[in-house]
Amino acid sequence: MNGVARAFLLVAILAGLCGMVWGIQMSASHDHTLSPAHGHLNLLGWVSCSIFAFYYHLVPDAAENPLARVHFGLVVAAVILLAPGVALAIQGKTELLAKLGSVIMLVSMLLFGWIVLKAPRRVAARA
Ligand code: HEM
Ligand code: HEM
Repeated sequence: MNGVARAFLLVAILAGLCGMVWGIQMSASHDHTLSPAHGHLNLLGWVSCSIFAFYYHLVPDAAENPLARVHFGLVVAAVILLAPGVALAIQGKTELLAKLGSVIMLVSMLLFGWIVLKAPRRVAARA
């Protein structure tokens, strides 16, 4: 696995590690206030980025589309904004980061849909 697929998997692992440390901290402190922020860091970071990684690995033509890098940048920006953004929103400090992150995540998913539609339906068998 290389290129954008590998980059997505590395981001997924990093988000998963941060999300798990956050989960352990919540369990240890018995304070679950920020659990939606922890949940979305894991779901958008670890789970969604892993799915993107394996899609681009299985469909190399899609990974070679220059838009795949734009997709990667948007997803990373969205995860970086959303996880702390949800935490700040729960604490009543600001909703701005969560709103920005949500819209960027939505745009990234629309772009991913476009990339999937443009990719060939049949994937050439690998040697
Ligand atoms: C070391 C691993 C993890 C620990 C210790 C942990 C811990 C926790 C804790 C303590 C809560 C709060 C539960 C409650 O208040 O009822 C929670 C909620 C949650 N966790 Fe985790 N978690 C871990 C990994 C994950 C992973 C890998 C995912 C997703 C793939 C995940 C998704 C969620 C979700 C969706 C919630 C509920 C969020 C909400 O309240 O809206 N967690 N977790
Ligand atoms: C732009 C992306 C997303 C936004 C803005 C968003 C927003 C939200 C909000 C506002 C909540 C309610 C939190 C609360 O009650 O405190 C929520 C809950 C939840 N979301 Fe998301 N979400 C997004 C993506 C996702 C994705 C991709 C998944 C799964 C892969 C997911 C899984 C969940 C789960 C499991 C809950 C908890 C439901 C519950 O506690 O009943 N979300 N989300």
